[in-house]
Amino acid sequence: MRIPPMSSLKGKWVLITGASSGFGAAAARAFGAEGAKLLLGARRVDRLKRVAAESRKAGAGEALFHELDVSKTPSVEKFISWVREKIGNRRSATGSLHVLINNAGGAHGLDTIVEGKDADWEAMIQSNVLGVLRMTRAALPLMPHDAGACIINIGSVAGHTAYEGGAVYCAAKAGELQITRALRLELLGTGIRVGTVDPGLAETEFSLVRFKGDAASAKKVYAGTHPLTAEDIAEILVWIAGRPSHVNIDELIVKPVDQAAVGKVYRRKL
Ligand SMILES: NC(=O)c1ccc[n+]([C@@H]2O[C@H](COP(=O)([O-])OP(=O)(O)OC[C@H]3O[C@@H](n4cnc5c(N)ncnc54)[C@H](OP(=O)(O)O)[C@@H]3O)[C@@H](O)[C@H]2O)c1
Repeated sequence: MRIPPMSSLKGKWVLITGASSGFGAAAARAFGAEGAKLLLGARRVDRLKRVAAESRKAGAGEALFHELDVSKTPSVEKFISWVREKIGNRRSATGSLHVLINNAGGAHGLDTIVEGKDADWEAMIQSNVLGVLRMTRAALPLMPHDAGACIINIGSVAGHTAYEGGAVYCAAKAGELQITRALRLELLGTGIRVGTVDPGLAETEFSLVRFKGDAASAKKVYAGTHPLTAEDIAEILVWIAGRPSHVNIDELIVKPVDQAAVGKVYRRKL
């Protein structure tokens, strides 16, 4: 029996949001190593510059970057205008957007609902939910039909299981999951693939952001356990995008072996 070949990512345009750190930065390097051409967005442009240089070194055909705040529609529109300038407005296999990775997001605070802050709630809904919608709406017209293009959203185990102090982050990632499912239905017949990767405990800047720069609290999250790395997720994203064009990876939950469930983590004595 013939195994269908992996779709080559060489020379294909790949757009990654939240590429300044964590999964997004690792994904930039990993897609770069496949010879893809990268369009990287985030708010910290100095960090994007560094990631772009690392991606070029890894083998990226191009590694371009531009400021992006997915929580603001004008910023998303400006970013997509820049993308159009760079790749042209064609829907051909090489001159259009092949992969969109909606990765920008994160958690803010670990307050219970009764102690919750409006600013934290709004930031989480803005980036994890509305950001995915805004980016998808703006980028979809640049994606070719029937050419193996794909949209991969980054969800979380938090979208599947609620935990104390996580109400809004869990709601946001559950929202991301349902947006992914609705989009797959809406794009039926276009040949554009749609999926979500939902990681568990992964050591990135995620906890530093959640605890507002408190490095000691962030470190505690990973104490004694062996979490996922950003590279673990990046490798999976490349694998998904590289499946043959008729194969859609719908939903993937990825956890470290030390995490049997949300809140059930094995920790070695330090
Ligand atoms: N680490 C985990 O345990 C884990 C588990 C499950 C899911 N996730 C999800 O994985 C995704 C990536 O997180 P990470 O773990 O890699 O954390 P990270 O290292 O903190 O990276 C988050 C990225 O998102 C960007 N971002 C945040 N808000 C943004 C906005 N409004 N506009 C544009 N970019 C924005 C950040 O860039 P700037 O600050 O430069 O804008 C940064 O590049 C997030 O959606 C997160 O919820 C993480």
